Amino acid sequence: MANMVLIGAQWGDEGKGKIVDLLTAHADLVVRFQGGNNAGHTLIIEGEKFIFHLIPSGILHEGKQCVIGSGVVVDPEVLLREFEQLRAKGYERSLEQLVISDEAHLILPTHCRIDQARESGLGCRKIGTTGRGIGPAYEDKMGRCGLRFIDLLADAAALKEKVYAIVDRHNRVLARLYDQETVDPGAVLAGIERAAGVLRPLIRKTPYLLREAADAGKNILFEGAQGTLLDIDHGTFPFVTSSSTVAANACAASGFALGLIDQVLGVVKAYTTRVGEGPFPTELRDDTGDFLRDRGGEYGSTTGRPRRCGWLDLVGLRYAVLVNGLDAFAVTKLDVLSGLETIEVCEAYEYQGRRLDYFPSSVEMLAGCRPILKRLPGWQEDLSGILSFDELPANARRYVNFMEERLGIPAHVVSVGPGREQTIIRNNLFTGNGRRAAIDNS
Ligand code: IMP
Repeated sequence: MANMVLIGAQWGDEGKGKIVDLLTAHADLVVRFQGGNNAGHTLIIEGEKFIFHLIPSGILHEGKQCVIGSGVVVDPEVLLREFEQLRAKGYERSLEQLVISDEAHLILPTHCRIDQARESGLGCRKIGTTGRGIGPAYEDKMGRCGLRFIDLLADAAALKEKVYAIVDRHNRVLARLYDQETVDPGAVLAGIERAAGVLRPLIRKTPYLLREAADAGKNILFEGAQGTLLDIDHGTFPFVTSSSTVAANACAASGFALGLIDQVLGVVKAYTTRVGEGPFPTELRDDTGDFLRDRGGEYGSTTGRPRRCGWLDLVGLRYAVLVNGLDAFAVTKLDVLSGLETIEVCEAYEYQGRRLDYFPSSVEMLAGCRPILKRLPGWQEDLSGILSFDELPANARRYVNFMEERLGIPAHVVSVGPGREQTIIRNNLFTGNGRRAAIDNS
C-alpha cells in the first residue's frame, strides 16, 4: 500500500488535475488539504470538459472517497455550483463520495469583497489574486475569528450570532478602510443556511476517517493546489497565496501522520507559467512566450487571465525538490514544446554580475536576476499520440533525461496531451516503494 502527496513544483497550473485523475485509479481516497476555489483543475474525460475548483477531481472515479481537509477554505456557493455541474453531467451519485472536514473554514461573500477591494489598489500592494476571498478567509482563521463547518452543526441562534459578528466586523473594514458598500448580514446568513441544508450530511471529523483508512491498508492521495513558489513561507512573498502549498502541509492540514506518507510526487510543467504579479526570471515576453501560451492553452481556468509563460527554471525546481522532499516528478505538457528549433532551460541566475544557484527570498533580488540559459535541441514531431517513452523523439527523451539528471529525481510520468490516455507511465506509482518502504527495509 502507499500514501502519496502530490504537489505543484512551480507557480501552480502545472497540470496537477490530470495527474491526480490518473493516480486516483490506484487510490481509495483523495484528499484536498489547502487553498480553496482559487485553484482550478480542468479535466477532459472522453471529450467532456470538467472544471473543479474545490471538489477533488477524483470524484469522477466511482467509489473513491473524496475529502476536503481542514486546511481548505471553502466557499459554499462554489461547492453547490460544482454539485450542479456533476448533476448536469450525470454524476449526481458521486456526491455521496464527498466528505468535508468539520474544521475547514468557510469563505463568506464579505471575504471576497475585501479581497477585491484590496486588489483594486485601495489597500496594500496589488498581488493579482484570484479575488475569491482566499487571503481574508485565512486571515480570519489565523485571527481565530473565522467560521468553520462545525459551526453549521450548532443551533440556529449560535450560528446567527457568529455570522452576524463576522459580517459586522467585515462591514467595518469595507466601509472605513475601503469606502465600500456594506453587506446585509441577514443575506449572508440566508446563503449559509441554504448551503448548510445541503452540506450538513457531508461534514465529518476527518482525521479519524483518514487514519482508519490507512490502518485498513487503503491508498490515500493528497492533492495539493497552487504550487511551491506560491507557498506562504517559501514562495515569492508577498506575491504568493495565503496557504502552505508544500508537501509537509498535506499532513498538518488534514490531520494525518507524517510517518504514514510513502511518496511525494511533484508535478512539473515542461516550461514555466505564472498568473498574477511577481518576479519571473525566465519569462518570455516575445513570440516564443506567445507560442507557449497559444499552444499550451495558457489561460487561467479560474479567472480566464492569460498566463505569463517562460522557459523551465531549474533554480526554482531544485528548490521545490528540496522544500518538498520530492521523490519523483511527473512532467506535463511536453507536447506543447514540439515545433521549437531550440529549447532553453535556466540552470542558474546571474545577479549583479554573480552566479546564483539558490532561489532568493527577496522578490526585489529575484526581479534583478537574469537567467543563465542552456540551449537544448528541440523536436518537430507531434507527441500527442505517443504511448511509450522509447517512442518519443530522441530530443524529447533527452529533454526529460536532462531534467531528471539536474533535479536528481526520476520522471515517473510524462504527459503528452490533456486526455487520460495521453500519458506515459514509467513506474507503478502506488507500489509502496517510496520512503516508508525504504525505512521499513533498512
Ligand atoms: P489568491 O490565492 O487568490 O490569494 O492569489 C494569490 C496569488 O496566487 C495570485 O498571484 C494568483 O494568481 C495565484 N494563484 C492562486 N491560485 C492559483 C492557482 O491555482 N494557479 C495559479 N496561480 C494561482
